[in-house]
Amino acid sequence: MTRNFLNLSDAGPDAIAAMINDAIDRKAARAGWPKGKIDGDSPLAGHVLGMIFEKNSTRTRVSFDMAIRQLGGTSIVMDAGSMQLGRGESVADTARVLSRYVDAIMIRTDDHAKIEELAEHATVPVINGLTDLSHPCQIMADLLTVIEHGKALPGLEIAWLGDGNNVLNSIVEAAGLMKFNVRIAVPQGYESDSAFIDTAKANGANVTMIRDAAEAVSGADIVVTDTWVSMGQENTHNKLGAMMPYQVNEKLMAGAKPDAKFLHCLPAHRGEEATADVLDGAQSVIWDEAENRLHAQKSILLWCFGKL
Ligand code: CP
Ligand code: NVA
Repeated sequence: MTRNFLNLSDAGPDAIAAMINDAIDRKAARAGWPKGKIDGDSPLAGHVLGMIFEKNSTRTRVSFDMAIRQLGGTSIVMDAGSMQLGRGESVADTARVLSRYVDAIMIRTDDHAKIEELAEHATVPVINGLTDLSHPCQIMADLLTVIEHGKALPGLEIAWLGDGNNVLNSIVEAAGLMKFNVRIAVPQGYESDSAFIDTAKANGANVTMIRDAAEAVSGADIVVTDTWVSMGQENTHNKLGAMMPYQVNEKLMAGAKPDAKFLHCLPAHRGEEATADVLDGAQSVIWDEAENRLHAQKSILLWCFGKL
């Protein structure tokens, strides 16, 4: 069976734990090495990762490219706009053709249905590099970062502030799988996907909607936010106004546990979803989080190829 990574549930809790452990080990094993040096065991030698981008990316693009290189493989990066996909070749035919050239496909697309279609017709693993619905690779890096900073996942209290978006959906999914809790503080009308919330609750996670930002953050272990306007969304004045009470600033952060950490998947908009003093402050772990995209991607690739 081809292993796809379209959402975290494709892997499940045991595989997620194994991937995080492997990422921790591989990260430690290459501490101080030049970034282009291949891991000692070169586990994906000869493998090629094809990457399709329908939307902009810095972290996902470079971390996946470096991830496959450090594992001994190589990559081909494709801009959807310059592919025949961009002028109407079907997703299914693209999947069939690319499967003959590359060993795995990572895609960042505006429409989750497209990645499902790609996976249906591909004969190689397909990885979700962000869709309008979810961003599972980001959350693998977030979980790794949280653990690296000394926090165990079970029972963890995570407060999400701002827009109910793709990143939040994957956090909620992870909560159900890894048994932590999420307090969601978003303005009315900007709620996240209810199917992810229902599944997480059914899996035993405590997922609560708390309209008051200070109440949501009170006693939290982790405070997390993201851009108020995701790629492909309308940037309306109304939206920014509605989001303002959910800005993560020093005053809000002070309500979390004293050892709470601040996460943001980046790119950040200083002065909008978070202030500069929080993003650059002592509780922020955003640069570790960004670095961990690389270490997490390696584990995801290894899992997709059946090596974990
Ligand atoms: N966090 C994240 O996915 O960043 P990029 O959009 O730069 O890939
Ligand atoms: N929610 C953001 C995440 C960017 C990494 C977006 O979809 O644009």
